[in-house]
Amino acid sequence: MHTAVLIPGDGIGPEVSVAVRQVLEAAEAPVRFVECQAGEAALEAGHDNLLPEETVEAIRSHGVALKGPCTTPIGKGFRSVNVALRKTLNLFAAVRPVRNLPGVKTRYENVDIVIIRENTEGLYSGVENFITDEVVASMKVATRPACHRIALWAFRYATRQRRKAITVLHKANIMKLTDGMFIEEAKRVHEQDYPNIEYSELIIDAASMKIVQDPTQFDVILCENLYGDIMSDLCAGFVGGLGVSPGANFGTEHAVFEAVHGSAPTIAGKNVANPLALLMSATMMLEYLAESRSDESCGAAASKIRAAYDRALGDGQKTQDLGGELTTTAFARAISERL
Ligand code: NAI
Repeated sequence: MHTAVLIPGDGIGPEVSVAVRQVLEAAEAPVRFVECQAGEAALEAGHDNLLPEETVEAIRSHGVALKGPCTTPIGKGFRSVNVALRKTLNLFAAVRPVRNLPGVKTRYENVDIVIIRENTEGLYSGVENFITDEVVASMKVATRPACHRIALWAFRYATRQRRKAITVLHKANIMKLTDGMFIEEAKRVHEQDYPNIEYSELIIDAASMKIVQDPTQFDVILCENLYGDIMSDLCAGFVGGLGVSPGANFGTEHAVFEAVHGSAPTIAGKNVANPLALLMSATMMLEYLAESRSDESCGAAASKIRAAYDRALGDGQKTQDLGGELTTTAFARAISERL
């Protein structure tokens, strides 16, 4: 039995977390969760901090976490707990697979993209200042070691996963130094260490047009932080939306698995959110445990869960975001029944 931290988060987080736990239990996945809080839920639980040291320490000690979304106020208020967690644990590589699912009809078939996002730098460095009352500035930060390590990570990932090509999206025509460094390091890693993986660079505005015209022409996409964030939601739209878009954040020692979506406040508490994105993130966690701890039973549980949700969707069992009528709970039950 492995232990993993579960951060339910807020908004739809608690309800999708419960649904995911139920499916994992029904699948007899060899994972026991230790529940911790972050964000608004941490304050409500009596902590004096949005990211309690206790939560960070628990992830350090258990090594893995499954995390629900945490709300960040827009234009005012506290800084993002999600960004803080990634920075504190140095979870520098975000991985977001985007694939068609059985029974989920979308505009495109055969979409199979993986977005790899640098998670610690860029405009998310949080360096924003008033220059005067009328002038504000936000600093975009790129460091060579971070650009190099994400490029290395992406090429290693592509090789291990038998992917063919990496496309780096950038705006180095305008941000010549920051994005310039990002592509320089990606190109260096390609030329020096991974010449067998096809490599290309695209300016992100032109790439956005190309990707909506035909997403099947893309394989692995490597981006700095902000572009990766935006491309993740954009690509989610190709395969059914945020309800079916999982993700993972990797560092050298820890990994936190979380859906691409946020706390979806307008549907929170209504038992209508799709738990699949978090469940798919949980299967990524099981695969990670299988590989990092050489435990085949985790890999078997992941395959079993994947087959069950594929079957449920194929049988037309869907939540509202996918055009169905099932509640969060009923969809989780439909998956469990097919395990
Ligand atoms: P969002 O992802 O919460 O919602 C965008 C749209 O997708 C909404 O229409 C929502 O109802 C729908 N949606 C999202 N997840 C869904 C699901 N599982 N099932 C069905 N529909 C779903 O993005 P938004 O509205 O921009 O952000 C809301 C809050 O979440 C903000 O405070 C934001 O900062 C935070 N956020 C947190 C993230 C995290 O914790 N990793 C990631 C993204 C946003």
